[in-house]
Amino acid sequence: MDASTKFRSSSIVFLLLTGSFFALVFSEVHVSVKNRLGSGKNITLHCQSKDDDLGEQNVADGSEFGWDFNVNVWGTTLFYCDMGWESVQDYQFVAYSFARDSVRCDTQCLWLVSEEGTYGLNAQTGFWEYIYQWLS
Ligand SMILES: *[C@@H]1O[C@H](CO)[C@@H](O)[C@H](O)[C@H]1NC(C)=O
Repeated sequence: MDASTKFRSSSIVFLLLTGSFFALVFSEVHVSVKNRLGSGKNITLHCQSKDDDLGEQNVADGSEFGWDFNVNVWGTTLFYCDMGWESVQDYQFVAYSFARDSVRCDTQCLWLVSEEGTYGLNAQTGFWEYIYQWLS
C-alpha cells in the first residue's frame, strides 16, 4: 500500500466513524402519546424534560400528542409526563429515556393510553408491550 492509498483509506474510516457518531447523537426521535381510553374520555398530558416544557395538553379520545427532539451528546435525554383522567390523577411516567429507549424504540417511541394502563411499542419486536399499570 503506498502512502496516498493509506491516507485515503484512513480518511474513509474517519468519515464513516464521524458519520455514525453524528447519526447516533443527532438522530431525531419522535415520541407520541395516544389516547385510547374509549368512551370519549379526554386526558390531560403535561410532558417535559430538563430543558423543554411542552405545556399542558388536552388529548381527546382517539387523538394523540407528539413531539420531536434530538437526543443530547451525553445520552441523558429524558422526558417525563404527568397525566390525568377521571379516576387517575397526577400519574407520572417516563415517555423517553435514552438509557432505556435508544434500542427499545429507537426513533419512534409510541404510547397508547388505555383503561388498564399504558402500552409502549417495542420497535425491535413490533409488539405493544404493557409497561405501566395504573396505580389508583
Ligand atoms: C375533550 O376534548 C374535546 C376536544 O378538545 C373538547 O371539545 C371537549 O370539551 C373535552 N371534554 C371535556 C370533558 O373536557
